Amino acid sequence: MNIARRRFDCLVIGAGGGGLRAALQLAQAEAHVAVVSKVFPTRSHTVAAQGGMNAALGNVLPDNWLWHMYDTVKGGDYLGDQDAIEYMCQAAPRLVIELEHYGVPFTRLPSGRIYQRKFGGQSQNFGGEQAARTCAAADRTGHAILHALYQQNIRARTHFFDEYFAVDLLRDQDGYVLGALVLEIETGELLIIEARTTLIATGGAGRIYRTGTNALINTGDGMAMALRTGIPLEDMEFIQFHPTGIAGFGMLITEGARGEGGYLVNADGERFMERYAPHAKDLASRDVVSRAIAIELREGRGCGPRKDHVLLKLDHLPADIIKNRLPGIRETAMRFAHVDPVEKPIPVSPSLHYMMGGIPTNRFGQVVVPEHHGPEEPVPGLYAAGECACVSIHGANRLGGNSLLDIVVFGRAAGEHMVQYLSENPYHRPLDAESVDRVMQRLARWDRKGEGESVDALGDELRRTMEEYCGVFRTQEVLDEGVHKIVAIGQRLSDVRLKDHSRVFNTARIEALELENLVDVATATVVSAAARTESRGAHSREDYPQRDDLKWLRHSLFYRAGRRMDYKPVRMKPLTVDSFPPKQRVY
Ligand code: FUM
Repeated sequence: MNIARRRFDCLVIGAGGGGLRAALQLAQAEAHVAVVSKVFPTRSHTVAAQGGMNAALGNVLPDNWLWHMYDTVKGGDYLGDQDAIEYMCQAAPRLVIELEHYGVPFTRLPSGRIYQRKFGGQSQNFGGEQAARTCAAADRTGHAILHALYQQNIRARTHFFDEYFAVDLLRDQDGYVLGALVLEIETGELLIIEARTTLIATGGAGRIYRTGTNALINTGDGMAMALRTGIPLEDMEFIQFHPTGIAGFGMLITEGARGEGGYLVNADGERFMERYAPHAKDLASRDVVSRAIAIELREGRGCGPRKDHVLLKLDHLPADIIKNRLPGIRETAMRFAHVDPVEKPIPVSPSLHYMMGGIPTNRFGQVVVPEHHGPEEPVPGLYAAGECACVSIHGANRLGGNSLLDIVVFGRAAGEHMVQYLSENPYHRPLDAESVDRVMQRLARWDRKGEGESVDALGDELRRTMEEYCGVFRTQEVLDEGVHKIVAIGQRLSDVRLKDHSRVFNTARIEALELENLVDVATATVVSAAARTESRGAHSREDYPQRDDLKWLRHSLFYRAGRRMDYKPVRMKPLTVDSFPPKQRVY
């Protein structure tokens, strides 16, 4: 088959904040950059980030990047790599100012400085009083950052392939990644994009769950692509449930609402977080607050006829705080929960929000894989950044406000390192015909309608299964059953029925490819969860309630072939400061 080919220095797959920040770095260094995005770039999921981006600017309360580092290490329950966390927290203030210069309209204090709000898990002076570290553009910070980065990329002449779906990476016999085969969604035309270096920045896979804050596009395409080329996924058992999604629907109500003074109550009107986290209360880290809500519901103190949610109270706050600092969540609450938070509390429950795990990278964004149980080696030409990657700065639980920071810091770092890679690898390697054939064979499997169930029905079953068998609280028995069910769903993929109009609109094939990706990521998640016999951060095992540093202070690695698990040490040593050794984690 004759497939069209285009050549670029660099290929960036995904146009969220991580991809756009990397592309900007590359384009500014005069590299010829292609960005492939399955949606128009400013519709990428970064647009949904509300509360803000952490940086120890100290504009509202005293702050220090080392306090931010301590909070991040503790928030991640000591599983984060401390060299990467140090790098991120130290870089944060400078990169917020850089964003301001790119045109991000941050909310202002009367002094003219950038406004910073309180978020969960933040402290002054290594666990002391609450800090205020989250730089906000009202409650639309992701929207503001994404638009500014897109505009800067247009100015820098980045080339965009909008509404193109990346099917798979192309990798040669020597392990070099040579670009990707992509598909134009509207026409179904295939295109090979050859690149000397490729960045995966495709975001998370929140759609492996049913109710969550994630967009429909979050189908784990990049993670699954990595798995199919033999790269493992790291720490996939750590899934974050945001405490405050709109009950029954999942739309995000920012943690910033609690940062501005909101608090949670149960059916008895009790401010129950005082029992679970006497010091930080509603601003404990997310895993703690989500578990507390889940316990309240389980013990019958939920609100409403089904006792399935708690209430987020904001109505005691001055109306202008809600209207000016939280306009987006007010609108969301009025539209989906039919309550105006100025007057009434919002019904909320924990909703799938974020994946701490992903494609293993170092702090330069290079994808790194342990070689035969030896040291990690970079996969030549391949980088990853953002939620699809695991650097790992979030460890076992991410702090709110650290994901926008992650994409900006490590998108930039990856771009910078890719520039260096280009100078050391000045020529394109020849395209590997076998790798193209492999992708074509995979695509050919979808060139038929199938007789079995529909993509929608199978996807729905996958999401319900993950919710039931790999939720907030876990046990061996339930997880093993979950593995069995998800593997069986994967086997049924081969007979999935495509919609009849697939040849006209070409969307059914894309949905089937996305479902294949979701199955791979869900398998990685549930298998990794069944293997970790301890409780740490967001991974809460009722049968192993304690953290076990002796056995489990290590990262997990899931390989697709044989669903094999492997492990690697946590990098406990920062580059320039002392490490924060594990200790009991209380809020
Ligand atoms: O609650 C929020 O605004 C979410 C922020 C985040 O996930 O970092």
